[in-house]
Amino acid sequence: MSKKNKELKNKIAASHLGGGQDRIDAQHKKGKLTARERIDLLLDDHSFEEIGGLVTHRSTNFGLDKKKFLGDGVVTGYGLVNGRLTYVFSQDFTVLGGSLAEAHAEKICKIMDLALKNGAPIIGLNDSGGARIQEGVVSLGGYADIFFKNTMSSGVIPQISAIMGPCAGGAVYSPALTDFILMVENTSYMFVTGPGVVKTVTNEEVSAEELGGAETHSTKSGVTHFAVNNELEAINHIKKLLSYIPQNCEEMSIIVDYEFQDEKRELLNSIIPENPNQPYDIRTVISEVADKDTFFEVHKNYADNIVVGFCRLAGRSIGIVANQPAVLAGVLDVESSKKGARFVRFCDAFNIPLLVFEDVPGFLPGTDQEWNAIITNGAKLLYAFSEATVPRVTVITRKAYGGAYDVMNSKHIGADMNYAWPTAEIAVMGAKGAAEIIFKKEINSAKNPQEKLEEKQNEYATLFANPYNAAARGYIDEVIEPYQTRKKLIRAFKMLENKVATLPKKKHGNIPL
Ligand code: HXC
Repeated sequence: MSKKNKELKNKIAASHLGGGQDRIDAQHKKGKLTARERIDLLLDDHSFEEIGGLVTHRSTNFGLDKKKFLGDGVVTGYGLVNGRLTYVFSQDFTVLGGSLAEAHAEKICKIMDLALKNGAPIIGLNDSGGARIQEGVVSLGGYADIFFKNTMSSGVIPQISAIMGPCAGGAVYSPALTDFILMVENTSYMFVTGPGVVKTVTNEEVSAEELGGAETHSTKSGVTHFAVNNELEAINHIKKLLSYIPQNCEEMSIIVDYEFQDEKRELLNSIIPENPNQPYDIRTVISEVADKDTFFEVHKNYADNIVVGFCRLAGRSIGIVANQPAVLAGVLDVESSKKGARFVRFCDAFNIPLLVFEDVPGFLPGTDQEWNAIITNGAKLLYAFSEATVPRVTVITRKAYGGAYDVMNSKHIGADMNYAWPTAEIAVMGAKGAAEIIFKKEINSAKNPQEKLEEKQNEYATLFANPYNAAARGYIDEVIEPYQTRKKLIRAFKMLENKVATLPKKKHGNIPL
């Protein structure tokens, strides 16, 4: 090895310590790992190939000429996650606070370009004080370069962002443009403006955690899809997530070996309560139908009147969207529509078949919903399903009322197979509401209006609160016993595996954003 090369190797090895041991100790004290420790945990042993380890910044402003670090505060490269090629960048908070400037951004962009050209996922491990203040506009330009590449890569390769430290200002928009965001409880936060600015502008007193911590973004805003307890959990979540998704939009997810067995699930026969207004947990249905312990929920703590996530069905990766009767009776509202739509779009972009469990009394009424644009937001879910060309199957377990029947992956908007359990109720609205409207005069003029209402309600329910009218029209392909559901779904998705569907030629649609 030449003398020069040897010197450089030693320098890079020293730079593995980032900004120095004391800074690494400080990082550990906060419960955080270093950039390189995170990469080591994420990638398969000895698979990491670093790119740009010798890059440094060029700025000399404000003493930066005396503060040069190999790698410029970000470790970039590629490696394997469970044997599959993955690109990664990991910001090093011990170097200038992981701040992003010209050279730092160029390194990230180079990795993003490679990931896009070679069709493999990119993982960003974010831990940064934001735009490097000393470098001025080139820092902002660096961010914009990344945002542009995030957008170009969207729908082509999976992009995952783990937030493992601060993420403030415009910096939040790169993660926001990616497919999934994970945040670590207590050590990470995301906001456009921090608590100080908030206090000045709105006079609100709020802590960083409350304003933009993992709990806030996983429950209130829905910005993050996963809130995890620590960084190790974050990395395990990333690996698990990757296991369900393909390398790029041209490929299919891996199918895990599975031997077909007796696929009856008797427990499903006793899930629906006698009383149609009594709740039950749709997750029980999902876990009975899915391969054992494979359901991986996304956006778990946000808009929990709808449940979304990945599972395996006879080894095949499937995206699930399910109304949750245990929360707000499974009604569709602004948040649940947005949550469902986003998930459907991801699955469709990456060839992941969709399975819908439907038990929905309709859209949530009220001024709050109307003023927050339930019309536009509900339309997102409708649009997302309508445009999805992946195999799509629906099981109506109980209620399928009103517009929500249409929206939740009905046959009319392109679903391939629609099943209903015998307990399904498919109608314009619930029997009581329907009777009150169409028999208003009769009820009001009756000797005993309450008795009349009940009589008309029963009449309506007998006629419509069942799946057979829809089945007679072919809107439902088959009324199945609950215990048969898993077997029927395995067969349906196998039958649909070579589905080809195309959309009319267009530049792009105009989803109601
Ligand atoms: C340059 C930075 C920096 C930055 C931190 N550092 N942020 N250097 N540019 N943006 C440096 C500090 O000077 C310090 O260096 C080291 O990183 C560690 O920072 P500390 O403040 O000691 O750490 P800590 O107490 O943990 O606080 C972390 C922090 C704080 C909350 C992130 O540093 C902070 O508020 N930084 C500024 C955040 C910010 O406003 N960024 C701009 C956002 S706007 P030394 O050498 O002294 O140890 C933005 C626009 C993007 O990003 C636009 C895109 C369109």
